[in-house]
Amino acid sequence: MTKLQIKNLYKNFESTKILEDINLKIEDGEFVVLVGPSGSGKSTILRIIAGLETPTSGEVIINNKVINDLKPKDRDIAMVFQNYALYPHMNIYDNLAFPLKMKHVEKTKIEKSVNDTSSMLGIQHYLKKKPKELSGGERQRVALGRAIIREPQLFLMDEPLSNLDAKLRTQMRAELLKLHKSLSSTVIYVTHDQIEALTMGNKIAILNHGKIQQLGTPDEIYNDPANTFVAGFIGNPGMNLFTLEIISNTKVLFQETPIELTNTSHFQELIKKNNLTNKKFILGIRPEHLLLNEEKDITLSANIDLIEMLGNEFLIYANVRNSGSNFSIKVTDKCNLKRNDKIKVTIDIKKAYFFDEKTQKRIYF
Ligand SMILES: Nc1ncnc2c1ncn2[C@@H]1O[C@H](COP(=O)(O)OP(=O)(O)O)[C@@H](O)[C@H]1O
Ligand SMILES: [Mg+2]
Repeated sequence: MTKLQIKNLYKNFESTKILEDINLKIEDGEFVVLVGPSGSGKSTILRIIAGLETPTSGEVIINNKVINDLKPKDRDIAMVFQNYALYPHMNIYDNLAFPLKMKHVEKTKIEKSVNDTSSMLGIQHYLKKKPKELSGGERQRVALGRAIIREPQLFLMDEPLSNLDAKLRTQMRAELLKLHKSLSSTVIYVTHDQIEALTMGNKIAILNHGKIQQLGTPDEIYNDPANTFVAGFIGNPGMNLFTLEIISNTKVLFQETPIELTNTSHFQELIKKNNLTNKKFILGIRPEHLLLNEEKDITLSANIDLIEMLGNEFLIYANVRNSGSNFSIKVTDKCNLKRNDKIKVTIDIKKAYFFDEKTQKRIYF
């Protein structure tokens, strides 16, 4: 049983704030994904949990015990990194057996553990080979095996799949989740890839500049983003964000360009009911919610910069005429448009999100 709690965690390197008031609660057996751009502090959080780095203040609590002063080797935590760090001169058997040998486990028990772990990961036929004779995916499996074999109470995984090619990464994601189910271990998985986060985590923590921006299920994070950062970071591509100033209930400044509202009783009601005249916001709309060939609420004139075919859908990159701001539209219908075409793009205000212009936090009407 492993519950992990991080309480009011701060980390400074000299005078630079790296982590600010991190709070996380991870229940026994949960698979939590920590996602954020490079430099946001993900690895530092893992290193503090593992005991490789000391916090400036705050507590790391495992099973209700503060473990701040516990040495890394006494924490019963296994960490898997992006560069698998196998011992090149040892064969796979010895690489897997190493952590158990260090713990002076008896030989027959080690043999059984190596056999069980290697067949669980499908690497039982490589035991006599050296790491350099294996492919990247196979090596990463050995690295995982070396973590699993110790039966630790907690796994920390720091971008463990980033060195693999796209196809293998998808396959390994599924395998990791299967493995997590069968071991019912507690896992914190770090990635900078929001797609990986959405597909793997049952709980996701989004980090930016050393602060947790939102903690939630993939559904909450995608459909109910707490601020502009989460809205823009999650999604492929992320949510389009525009400035919007309401001049009257028939006119707005959209990215500083005046636009007359079209056929828009719902929007007008919203403006009246909430007294929005003269107020400024950030308006967010997902690429898949923008409409072509419809006139409703806010209609923009735009130029197409680029069209990408994504198999079953098309991604159109365009810019708002007059303001030049870039945005993207996703369409599933057959797309007869081409570069430099002029288009009308419509925002259905019912599908739009509003954010505070200053705090960047979500506003609900
Ligand atoms: N030992 C250190 N000394 C000084 N700065 C560090 C150290 N380790 C990390 N940092 C800084 O802390 C920030 C967060 O780093 P890191 O946790 O590695 O981010 P991530 O894993 O999200 O890419 C970065 O700006 C990085 O340069
Ligand atoms: Mg990192």
